[in-house]
Formats: sequence, C-alpha cells, structure tokens
Amino acid sequence: MPAAERESLFAYVNGKIAPAEKAVVSVFDRGLVLGDGLFETVRAWNGHPQFFGLHYRRLSKSAKRLRIRLDMDEAGLEKLIKKLCAKSGLADAVVRVTLTRGRYLGGLAIDPSLPPTLIVTVAPVSGLPPALYERGVKVAISTINKAAASGLDSAIKSTNYLANIFAKAEADRKGAYEAILLGPHGEIAELSTSSFFCVVKGKVLTPPIETGILPGITRQVLLRILRREKIPFGEVALFPKETHMMQEAFLCSSVRGPLPITRIEDVKIGGGKVGPVFRRLRDLYNLECAADAVAWKKGKS
Ligand SMILES: Cc1ncc(COP(=O)(O)O)c(C=O)c1O
Repeated sequence: MPAAERESLFAYVNGKIAPAEKAVVSVFDRGLVLGDGLFETVRAWNGHPQFFGLHYRRLSKSAKRLRIRLDMDEAGLEKLIKKLCAKSGLADAVVRVTLTRGRYLGGLAIDPSLPPTLIVTVAPVSGLPPALYERGVKVAISTINKAAASGLDSAIKSTNYLANIFAKAEADRKGAYEAILLGPHGEIAELSTSSFFCVVKGKVLTPPIETGILPGITRQVLLRILRREKIPFGEVALFPKETHMMQEAFLCSSVRGPLPITRIEDVKIGGGKVGPVFRRLRDLYNLECAADAVAWKKGKS
C-alpha cells in the first residue's frame, strides 16, 4: 500500500480512533506476546460490512470459547466500522477486527478481571486481477496437518496462523496460489486462507466442519444458496487421491468471494477450464451480496 494511502487510514484501539499509522497497542499485549486472541476479516461494500451478523456471531462464539470478553455489541461494532470506512475515505474496504486477552502480566493464567484489547482497522481492497476469476488458480497440497498443528478448536479464528503461514510458503515454493491443509485422517480440510469446494458427479461437495476447518462465512452463505436453490450438495470427506474425479473446484473467502481452482498440484480440474457450476454459484453469490446490502439499508431506514 503506498505511503500516502496508508496515511489517510484510521484505526480504532480500545475506545480511541486515531490515524492508523499512529494507533498503537502495548508491547505487553497477550495478543502479541502469546498469540492469545482472535480476529475477523470482513469485506465492506459502500461502507457496509457484508454478512456482518454472521461475522459477529462467529466472533462472539469464539470469544466465549476463549473466555475473552467482547464488550461491544453487534450494532456498536457495525457503526464503528462504518465510521472508520467514512473517515478513511473508503467505500469498499477490508476490515479487520482483532480481540485479544489484553495485558500480559507474566505467566499463562487467565484473569477475567483484566480488560481485553479491541482493535479495528480498515484497508483498501487490493483485489485480484479479474482474469484470475476467468482463468482459475493452481493450488498445492500442503504436508501440514491442520488438526495436529493447531491443537485447538478449529472454529476459533485465532490470531495464531503459523500452520497456515507455512502451508502458504509451501504453495509459494510450488508456484501455487494457495495450499490445501489436511485434516486428521489426511483428508482435504481447507486452504491457507479460504474454504474448499468441488463438484463430483454433478454434486457440490465441501469438507465437513469435523475435518477441523474454520466455519467460513462465505462457505455458510454458499451452503445456504445451495439449499435454497435445491442444487445437490454434500458435506463429505474428500481425499487428495480423489482430485482426478473433481469436475470443478473452487475456494472462497469473505474478501475474494468464490474463486475457481483449475489445477490441484499436477492434476487439471475440469480440463483446466472454469466450469458452469462455479459460474452459476458465483452469480448467485453476487446476488446474495446485493440482497445483504439492501436488507442492511432497509434495517437502517
Ligand atoms: C483458514 C481459513 N479458512 C477459511 C477462510 C474463509 O473464511 P471466510 O469465508 O469467513 O472469510 C479463511 C479466511 O480467512 C481462513 O483463514
């Protein structure tokens, strides 16, 4: 991000809004010292944080599981995001909400009386080249077993991303866009920063939550669409040796939406071409995003 662009951004830290470059947290924050925190990455369109109810629910559920207080309610956080986008001059933005256990006092004990740290930042959407959505991407299969690496409930979007970082490094070494991490039995779980979907025998398949995946918001929205449109789908275990049976594959995340995969390691998916199921789901997903924005406007008026 160019320096001039960075300088116009604002961030929130524990009750204060400041220019992002000057916003600071303590060197004694447990998020930094111990990776003791969680986060959400949200896409904002026209200053509206998309599918925010789902993001807030995941954040508050994770906060409860980690026993970190989330003091701001959904409406308050949504208002704050809107304010940060407006102050930063961003209509479309990547929003990051980070919640940590707050001050580190030595040791690992949890002291529920200590206030947590809440950080919200907004940044311009760098966006992928549109050609990638037409051409698809190659992904690698990582040697990292996600379940073994994290050791924690995968539903928590924790600030510790070491397994994912090293999976992405493997992808980079192989000239791939992202890497698939494996579940406890060597099954496909998810990618370094996205959820996995494929089409086998005309049916849309995605790994179940039990594989140790993050319950992705985009995955939830796509499952809702599949159910509503009565498109055959299933949440089933998939193994790397089954990639040659996949007619189509795609990944998805809040920032990128659905993105086609046309190659997994050396296996071409769908003859290396983007398929019709992906195109249909992408169009339906875009409609769902538009409907979410309309519902939000109505709720506010
Ligand atoms: C490991 C992992 N899985 C899946 C996703 C997709 O989740 P969402 O759709 O909520 O952005 C992400 C997004 O950051 C992720 O990091």
